[in-house]
Amino acid sequence: MSNQLTIALSKGRIFKDTLPLLKAAGIEPLDDPDTSRKLILETTQPNVRLLVVRTTDAPTYVSYGAADLGVAGKDVLMEAPSDNLYELLDLQIAKCRLMVAGPVEERPHGHRLKIATKYVNSARAYYAAQGQQVDLIKLYGSMELAPLIGLADRIVDLVDTGNTLKANHLKPLEHIADISSRLIVNQHAYKTKYAQIQQIIEKFNTVIGK
Ligand code: ATP
Ligand code: PRP
Ligand code: MG
Repeated sequence: MSNQLTIALSKGRIFKDTLPLLKAAGIEPLDDPDTSRKLILETTQPNVRLLVVRTTDAPTYVSYGAADLGVAGKDVLMEAPSDNLYELLDLQIAKCRLMVAGPVEERPHGHRLKIATKYVNSARAYYAAQGQQVDLIKLYGSMELAPLIGLADRIVDLVDTGNTLKANHLKPLEHIADISSRLIVNQHAYKTKYAQIQQIIEKFNTVIGK
């Protein structure tokens, strides 16, 4: 179907926060990804379907054209830039900051700083811009644990309320970037489905910033 539109979304906060935007565009999923095991969700619009993907995979689906549109955090887009896609819109959802954080009581360290993070590329670029040599340790989650247990001196991670840092005796130290989620589009799909996509953007815009 040529007017079929496929949108890649991750479960959790991005899905939840994108729902009101989709609703404004007349798109409502027929299943709830939290209770259904389905990974392709049909919607109230027969030609629109949602793909349930891992957060870091949304740009990949869009880049290869397996999805026309997608929603991805700026953190994900910065960490692994993808070809063949445009960032169309700042959706102003899932807002947080990418930050350096460390122990509330800074310990002296006689070596290069060890930084634990899942954002190794962003962290490398940040410290290079600072002219500071550091050792990066790649983790896939629970970064806040690393300084507590002596795996690293500091972390580079997302901070929203700061509650996770506080609960682990850490404090924010340096601001790297403001983060929010973006609507991304496959470049080819943007040409071939321009009117359809433009209509969705207009509807999204009526909700954004409210
Ligand atoms: P997974 O649990 O599969 O590892 P994830 O942690 O990357 O996935 P989410 O926590 O749903 O997935 O985060 C999705 C996006 O939301 C992130 O890429 C980031 O842009 C944003 N985000 C993450 N944590 C927060 C937060 N605490 N507050 C606001 N936005 C956040
Ligand atoms: C994210 C992020 C931080 C936390 C920051 O984790 O990885 O740990 O939020 O938010 P805060 O400053 O409001 O505490 P998330 O809740 O997504 O859990 P996760 O480890 O499952 O990704
Ligand atoms: Mg998370």
